Amino acid sequence: MLAYRHLFHAGNFADVFKHALLARLLLLLARKDKPFCYLDTHAGTGLYDLSHPWAKKLAEHREGIARLWGRKDIPEAFAPYMEAVQAENPDGKLHFYPGSPRVTRRFLRPGDRMVLNELNKKDFAELKEQFGRDRQVGVHYGDGYQALKAHLPPKERRGLVLVDSSFDRAKEFDRVADALGLAHERFATGVLAFWYPLMEAPAIRAFERRVAASGVRKILKLELSVLPETWSQSLRGCGLLVVNPPFGFEEEAAPMLEWMRVTLAQGGPGACELGWLVPE
Ligand SMILES: C[S@@+](CC[C@H](N)C(=O)[O-])C[C@H]1O[C@@H](n2cnc3c(N)ncnc32)[C@H](O)[C@@H]1O
Repeated sequence: MLAYRHLFHAGNFADVFKHALLARLLLLLARKDKPFCYLDTHAGTGLYDLSHPWAKKLAEHREGIARLWGRKDIPEAFAPYMEAVQAENPDGKLHFYPGSPRVTRRFLRPGDRMVLNELNKKDFAELKEQFGRDRQVGVHYGDGYQALKAHLPPKERRGLVLVDSSFDRAKEFDRVADALGLAHERFATGVLAFWYPLMEAPAIRAFERRVAASGVRKILKLELSVLPETWSQSLRGCGLLVVNPPFGFEEEAAPMLEWMRVTLAQGGPGACELGWLVPE
């Protein structure tokens, strides 16, 4: 039985960060005519009811998507992401939050494909319910790291992989670093994105060292902190490593990160960082 349920955290600042950047990556992939495949190794349920008692318990969306909702001054780069959230809330009130599968579904063109993988049986069942009849989507039950072996490389030879672990087990940073090496070994030309929580500095530095030692190159690092580095009572920030970011992504992401820093900071200035963990 898996303890982590994303409904407790849906729509929080980390989701805003991840999904707003995910939307840009997908749009950049869709610039070329050739079809692509999206693989989500830790897909979650796809849609989250923010009025559910679990979502209300911590109400993390209040410091996340709710800070963007209804604003008229949001930078254009966030428009595709905001449209994905608005599509789930047609009456204009924020009731539902889309997870990565539903955000991504909006960006698939008729020839593109999406492969969703999830280890929690209930979340998997919900994904099946939502996407089971969708011919462009495959829904799989199992371990996300095994899914990398099962589904890479995709037959399209173009695509995006999102590894969005819940980090609820010891040594998960090691698993994610190894997954980066494995995904690259099987799909060296793919856009490969790995989300991680900002924890104590030594753990993050060890993670970076392990990733760098994999020999994989062209790894862009994006980080957003909404709370000070000394904060340990809840998630203080998060990051995304993107291997082979599409041309133009870095330039789009820089002002997005800065805007999120200002908009999502909690009781301080927040911080953000963008740079090459390993250059080309
Ligand atoms: C952070 S949530 C995913 C959120 C989703 N990607 C999104 O952005 O909307 C992490 C998910 O991974 C699932 N999970 C945990 N361990 C897993 C594993 N080893 N393989 C696949 N899924 C796993 C959890 O059940 C949870 O639904």
